[in-house]
Amino acid sequence: MKWGAMIFALIALVAAVWYITQPKVSDANGPQPSRAALPDGALAVVKIPAAFSPKEQLGKRAFDATCSKCHGDNAQGRDGTAPPLVHKIYEPSHHGDMAFELAAKTGVRSHHWKFGDMPPVEGVTRADVLNIVAYIRALQRENGIN
Ligand code: HEC
Repeated sequence: MKWGAMIFALIALVAAVWYITQPKVSDANGPQPSRAALPDGALAVVKIPAAFSPKEQLGKRAFDATCSKCHGDNAQGRDGTAPPLVHKIYEPSHHGDMAFELAAKTGVRSHHWKFGDMPPVEGVTRADVLNIVAYIRALQRENGIN
């Protein structure tokens, strides 16, 4: 009898641990790190590289001025507004530099997420966008997205 109860308790414990450690799938956006680890309103935890090249720094400035209000600081996403660009979906082989140019120039019809469309971004030049791409790629690399 005692053994039976202990084995039962053990199985219950293993099941509970399994349940707790399962990644939670948020309604809109697929697997994500646990909310507790996320900065306020962010959708991804983004590690920042120790240093940025001059081009990447220019990109950061342009990103902060024109993209971060939707895509969040450090491209970590903004809950309810726009996705993180430091995300596997946006790795270079899925979304090359051209995808960024097009996004800024013509906007994006919502297809990966449930945030709605991205409107075209006024006032960014092609050079700005290429700097932004360099900055985003640097963040992606630092976070293991290549
Ligand atoms: C008004 C909010 C908003 C702003 C400002 C904005 N974006 Fe977006 N962006 C979005 C949303 C929403 C999506 C997701 C669309 C979807 O569902 O796939 C998106 C998607 C993207 C994508 C993915 C494109 C694709 O082909 O799937 C790229 C790249 C991107 N944005 C880059 C930028 C850059 C660079 C800037 C600044 C120049 C910027 N965004 C500014 C809202 C915004």
